[in-house]
Amino acid sequence: MSSQMLLQQIESRYPVIEKPIPMVANPIRMTIVDDPDQLLDTLSKEDQHGVLHLPYWTYLWPSAIGLARYLDSDDGIYGERVLEIGCGFGLAGIVACQKGGMVLFTDYEQDALAFARYNALRNGCADKACFVQMDWNTPCLKGKFSRVIASDVIYEDTHWTPILDMLQTHLNPDGEAIFAEPTRTSAAGFVDRLSRYGFTYTKQISDVVGLDGVVFKISIYCLKRDRGVPP
Ligand SMILES: C[S@@+](CC[C@H](N)C(=O)[O-])C[C@H]1O[C@@H](n2cnc3c(N)ncnc32)[C@H](O)[C@@H]1O
Repeated sequence: MSSQMLLQQIESRYPVIEKPIPMVANPIRMTIVDDPDQLLDTLSKEDQHGVLHLPYWTYLWPSAIGLARYLDSDDGIYGERVLEIGCGFGLAGIVACQKGGMVLFTDYEQDALAFARYNALRNGCADKACFVQMDWNTPCLKGKFSRVIASDVIYEDTHWTPILDMLQTHLNPDGEAIFAEPTRTSAAGFVDRLSRYGFTYTKQISDVVGLDGVVFKISIYCLKRDRGVPP
């Protein structure tokens, strides 16, 4: 499908706006949902257990900008097989493509993937990007990745085990997983689990200006397997 047709399809369902996200060289032009708060009531849904699921994918979170900036200054991605989980609009994965990675964008929301696909096309990443609808609780992946990237996906403790299990299976033994999150206290629970899964990590915090102009402290965790601990 051409990018024009894809955009028409998206615009038939959502009000959209294009936002440039500055990077060191050129900005990434991100087409996102305009005023997602207006859609909260219509897009929120309850699962069979009565748990309410909010449409978090309709926001471009500051962690995505933080992860994109981090990857923008990483020259080791060229030629690597990269997996993005919970990609939302796809900003971080697009930067990974532009740095030469072959990126598999995944999210369990089909409409998020439509935006990510359009944004990847719009930013010249067609030959570097693939898209798969995937729930990380039931991963449908083939093979291993040298990088797994994710922004703002560890906000619920129920996410931690399936995400770490997925890393155990699909991260190369010498690979790296990079998580960005907005320095929530709850992230400590995720970090506590890492040694049990045989990971060590480094953490850096940087100030990131979100789309609303507010400055957020974004933590970037880089996970690697402990030497000597088999995957
Ligand atoms: C807080 S949003 C972050 C979106 C994007 N990474 C960003 O930072 O702007 C969480 C994302 O994870 C996705 N997600 C939540 N649970 C998921 C699951 N079990 N499997 C796959 N994706 C999931 C949501 O659809 C959403 O896109």
